[in-house]
Order: sequence, then structure tokens, then C-alpha cells
Amino acid sequence: MKTNIILMGPPGAGKGTLAKRLISKYHIPHISTGDMFRDAIKAGTELGKTAKDYMTRGDLVPDEVTIGIVRERLAQDDCGHGYLLDGFPRTLKQAEALKELTTSLKREVNLVINIDANQAELIKRISGRRVCKNCGAPYHVTNMPPKKEGICDQCGGPLFQRPDDNEAALKVRLSHYYADTKPLLNYYEAMHVLSNVNGMLGADEVLNLASKLIGEVK
Ligand code: AP5
Ligand code: MG
Ligand code: ZN
Repeated sequence: MKTNIILMGPPGAGKGTLAKRLISKYHIPHISTGDMFRDAIKAGTELGKTAKDYMTRGDLVPDEVTIGIVRERLAQDDCGHGYLLDGFPRTLKQAEALKELTTSLKREVNLVINIDANQAELIKRISGRRVCKNCGAPYHVTNMPPKKEGICDQCGGPLFQRPDDNEAALKVRLSHYYADTKPLLNYYEAMHVLSNVNGMLGADEVLNLASKLIGEVK
């Protein structure tokens, strides 16, 4: 069975952490719009120049830009055997564009995993998060520390704090989540593809619950 999955949840809920674990288990492409924008900023492309200021403030990158990059990515051959979207869609316009696109590609979404955690926990996770500069692996100073401080376990790269992981930008990111993205849960519930996983649990438990949901996809 093809698993065409969306991971949804507020900033810091653990989407990226779960995604990295799922893709090494299921070998499907991880499509994170946030990572695509960060890569574009690093490479200095036009896309990166467009996205940078929005991201630094915590605002959403305009729909037409974001929909454009997902349209290109989902049409690639490697998405024909399943895919894992992380951080897309985030607005109703994006969800409607995704519906149209996946229908025309015959790659319809068949599972939406919503991971949530309370706001105090989200703030703790975001403020303690460190990310590998080379491979993007996420760590946390207390929850998931690397074996050697400041160094990625997987590739030896240096760890850094994302520029949008500060109090002011997080406030904006959370407000967009509650106003623009959370309402999409109703949209997917009505399509009978929504399942919830308690993101307050430890990362191993979250992985087990998500894997169980994937195993149940018919
Ligand atoms: P994006 O990169 O998607 O950021 P986000 O949604 O704010 O989510 P995060 O990546 O911050 O959190 P996460 O849920 O992945 O948590 P993680 O696993 O790292 O987007 C960034 C920006 O790009 C947006 O603000 C916007 O500007 C732009 N953008 C992206 N997509 C867009 C779109 N579709 N439309 C418009 N604009 C878009 O975990 C967090 C921390 O917690 C880590 O330290 C981790 O180690 C720890 N942790 C994770 N799981 C657990 C656990 N179970 N228990 C304990 N600790 C845990
Ligand atoms: Mg993420
Ligand atoms: Zn690394």
C-alpha cells in the first residue's frame, strides 16, 4: 500500500523529529517546506531571497511560492511510492491546491498524522532545539542531547540554533498555526484521513504510534 502522508502540528511538536525516523523506516521522501526554504536560503537562490524575511519574522511564505515548490517536488518519480509532507499544507488555499494536485497525479493523501503538545512544552522544545548545520538532524539540549556537545552524532557537523527559534518569531509562528493551520484539522477530519498522536509523549512512543497508524492504512 502506498502511504501518502501529511504530518501536521504546531512549531516544536516534533514533526521533523518524527519525519526523520519514519523515512529511515519506510524509505519514502521527506518533503519539508521549511527545510526546502532553509536550503534555498543557504544556497542564495531567488527562492531563498523571497523566503528569508518571512521566515525570520515567523510569518508564512506566500501561498503561490510555497504551492509552486510542492507542485514541482510531488510530481517527481520518487513520490510515486509514497511521500511524507512535513509543514505543508498550512493554509486552506494550500490544502485545496494539494487536493487538486494529488488528484491529478493519482497520489492522494491517505493519512494525516496530527501531533500536538501544550504551549509550555512547545516553548521549551523550541528554545532548547539545536540543529545540525550539515544534515539538519534535530537535537534538544536536555531532551535529546548529542553525545558530544555542539556536534552532530550522525555527521560530525556543528549544531546551531535556528534564527526563527526566538521568543518574538515563535509568538508569530504560533499565532499563524492557531489562525491558519489548525482549522485544517477539520478539513482532513471531514475527509476521514485524520489521526491524532499525543506529541507530549517521548519520541520513541510517538514513532511507535505513528508506525501503527501507517500499518493500518488500507
Ligand atoms: P518549519 O521548518 O516547518 O517550522 P515549524 O512548523 O515552526 O516547525 P518546527 O520545525 O519548528 O518544529 P517541529 O514540529 O519540526 O519540531 P522538531 O521535530 O524540530 O517552518 C519554518 C518556517 O518556514 C515557517 O515559519 C514559514 O515561515 C516557512 N514555511 C514552511 N512551510 C510553509 C508553508 N507550508 N507555508 C508558508 N510558509 C511556510 O522538534 C522540536 C524540538 O523538540 C527539538 O529540539 C526536538 O529534539 C524536540 N523533540 C521532538 N520530539 C520530541 C518528543 N517527543 N519529546 C521531547 N522532545 C522532542
Ligand atoms: Mg520541523
Ligand atoms: Zn549532522
